[in-house]
Amino acid sequence: MSRERAVIHAITGASGAPYARRLVQVLAASGVRVHLTMSSAGARVLLEELGIRADPAQFDPRLFDVESDLVTYHRPEDVGASIASGSFGASAMVVLPCSMGTVARIVHGVSSNLIERAADVMLKERKKLVLVPRETPLSSIHLKNLLAATRAGAVVLPAMPGFYHRPTTLEELVDFVVTKVLDQLGVPSDLIRRWGKAPGR
Ligand SMILES: Cc1cc2nc3c(=O)[nH]c(=O)nc-3n(C[C@H](O)[C@H](O)[C@H](O)COP(=O)(O)O)c2cc1C
Repeated sequence: MSRERAVIHAITGASGAPYARRLVQVLAASGVRVHLTMSSAGARVLLEELGIRADPAQFDPRLFDVESDLVTYHRPEDVGASIASGSFGASAMVVLPCSMGTVARIVHGVSSNLIERAADVMLKERKKLVLVPRETPLSSIHLKNLLAATRAGAVVLPAMPGFYHRPTTLEELVDFVVTKVLDQLGVPSDLIRRWGKAPGR
């Protein structure tokens, strides 16, 4: 049986669809199996931000220009999917982008769909859960929920690109955030110039 690394990636309805597409592309190219799912709001944001008309009931990874059979898609309503179980062997889960609504439901253990259930499982199994929220400004409700997520064991990694690698393109800004996520997953990457490495200017 194949023992390749498996990561769960949920796309929810916050702004940041370009990050999501890039993460799937890089993970698949790195030989990591991706168990992908998305909320209907996530699909709506794909349309608004990338012009991708996705059906959350049956998403085709080729819409992300990913041909690899390393990407398996799960319907968000399918709470009986493999990734909904604690016995599933994923090493980590990323919610990218992560809406404040999904943060709220995860920290309150709502588990009303596959995304929330899979996140609940990662927390109870003490496995890595990386939430990449995006909202501004943040209300006290958002801040309390993000603190609760951290206290429950999740890594809160806001979609906040830095500028010290001197990006000149949108792709470089996207790669900054994706690199931070890959670092959390322990997936080696060289998408951006690292701080302290030969700036050359
Ligand atoms: C184009 C667009 C952009 C949005 N951006 C954000 C955002 O950055 N952060 C956020 O928390 N919600 C954002 N929303 C609202 C969420 O999509 C909405 O709260 C939704 O119910 C979240 O559902 P989900 O958590 O099931 O994906 C956005 C919605 C749309 C249509």
